[in-house]
Amino acid sequence: MKIVIVNGSARKGNTLTAIQAFAEGVAEENEIEIIAPEKLNIAPCKGCGVCQCSKGCVDQDDTNPTIDKIVAADVIVFATPVYWWGMSAQLKLIIDKCYCKGLHLKNKKVGVIVVGAARVGSIQYELINKQFQCMADYLFWDMLFIKSYSASDRADLSNNTDAIAELKELGSNLC
Ligand SMILES: Cc1cc2nc3c(=O)[nH]c(=O)nc-3n(C[C@H](O)[C@H](O)[C@H](O)COP(=O)(O)O)c2cc1C
Repeated sequence: MKIVIVNGSARKGNTLTAIQAFAEGVAEENEIEIIAPEKLNIAPCKGCGVCQCSKGCVDQDDTNPTIDKIVAADVIVFATPVYWWGMSAQLKLIIDKCYCKGLHLKNKKVGVIVVGAARVGSIQYELINKQFQCMADYLFWDMLFIKSYSASDRADLSNNTDAIAELKELGSNLC
């Protein structure tokens, strides 16, 4: 399987730790690619709508190659820190740009990892989960998991052995 993970955090912190633990669990025969939006040149969606009657986004930047990778994936994992009760701008940028190939994302297997400073059970996780659930309903996604973790300082999640074990298990359950 081809697994594409979109890393919504620009710092080497908890979201990356979660992604690495998840990837460690994934069986070797699978192919994993991590997309780091902050390393790419992607303009925000302008809502011009041209993509709806052409083959992709009009922006001549990294948009089309990045979205093509996501479209080609068997499993997509969206990973994000909580920023202001929502997903990060880095992740939202990529999700908005998915609009140019939106219907090609139908029926995907999708996982979501959210890391915030607030305790698990707080409203921010509920809000983010609901947003992903709406996308899942719209695009008929097979939601494999939506997991929330509480971690604030950048090393916090790596010290949470239960979370790391659970993330590895999520990865190993993929095949
Ligand atoms: C701009 C900004 C906004 C944040 N807003 C929230 C928030 O609304 N709720 C929350 O629980 N944590 C919030 N946090 C804390 C981060 O989600 C938390 O530190 C997380 O572990 C960061 O993930 P990272 O280490 O992968 O960057 C915010 C952090 C930043 C930098």
